[in-house]
Amino acid sequence: MWLLAVSVPLLPAIVMASRRYHVKLSRLCHRALGWVLRLLRGGVCVRSTHAFVFSNCTHGKVDSVLETFDLYAQTHPSLSIGPEIGEALDAVVKRVRPSRVLELGTHCGYSSVRLLRLLPPVGRLITVEMDPLTAELGEEIILVSGFKHNQFQVLTSSSAEAIPALPSLLEPDVSEGFSLVLMDHDPLLYLADLQALEREQLLCRSGCSVVLIDRKRRAGGLTEILDHVRARLESCCVRTELPFIVEIFYHEC
Ligand SMILES: C[S@@+](CC[C@H](N)C(=O)[O-])C[C@H]1O[C@@H](n2cnc3c(N)ncnc32)[C@H](O)[C@@H]1O
Repeated sequence: MWLLAVSVPLLPAIVMASRRYHVKLSRLCHRALGWVLRLLRGGVCVRSTHAFVFSNCTHGKVDSVLETFDLYAQTHPSLSIGPEIGEALDAVVKRVRPSRVLELGTHCGYSSVRLLRLLPPVGRLITVEMDPLTAELGEEIILVSGFKHNQFQVLTSSSAEAIPALPSLLEPDVSEGFSLVLMDHDPLLYLADLQALEREQLLCRSGCSVVLIDRKRRAGGLTEILDHVRARLESCCVRTELPFIVEIFYHEC
């Protein structure tokens, strides 16, 4: 009641201020609504992940960058693959020893950094992220980790648009394709994107591992992709099936 009594005399001033500053006010309300929704949903905030890692890690130290991501994920929702899936991915990378790697789903750069730190000096990573802000922040984290633009490239694009453009980016080694592909973007697109990579002949002739991150345990498109692989055993097979990671090996493309 007292609030009403105080605010009624202030009403004309509030109306005048809101007319004058309505653009700024609506922006502020929009931002506040975003914060509230994010809090309610417990959603992942790319800006806050980036800000935490950027300001708390030791720049130029890969291990520190990864540890800071893991620290953030202990108290905030996170989309990074994290240490558990990360170690399973490391094992694949160490076995395959790839020189050209494709990643679909950069996000804030956690898995890109994990991949890059295990590549040989001539190794190269192309990572695809469809959200422009996320791509920009992810690229900054990769640079902060100490990697240079001659080692990686972030493509700001959807996977569907990026894949047909990849052959020109692989020149002059286009005939060799990728030796490792990591899919961690949208499981419903895994099959379509795998088929697009097959069509473009981007899966290395001398062997290519395609690693699928399976956070929802065979939900989404994973079952279809496994059926697709099992119907083409002359050219590929399921090599590793762990709770959150599936590795498909192409031995002849
Ligand atoms: C689960 S996160 C990736 C996490 C990342 N691999 C890591 O461990 O740090 C998925 C990312 O894929 C992006 N994404 C979703 N669909 C995509 C698509 N069709 N093409 C490219 N990026 C996509 C999202 O914007 C999001 O940043």
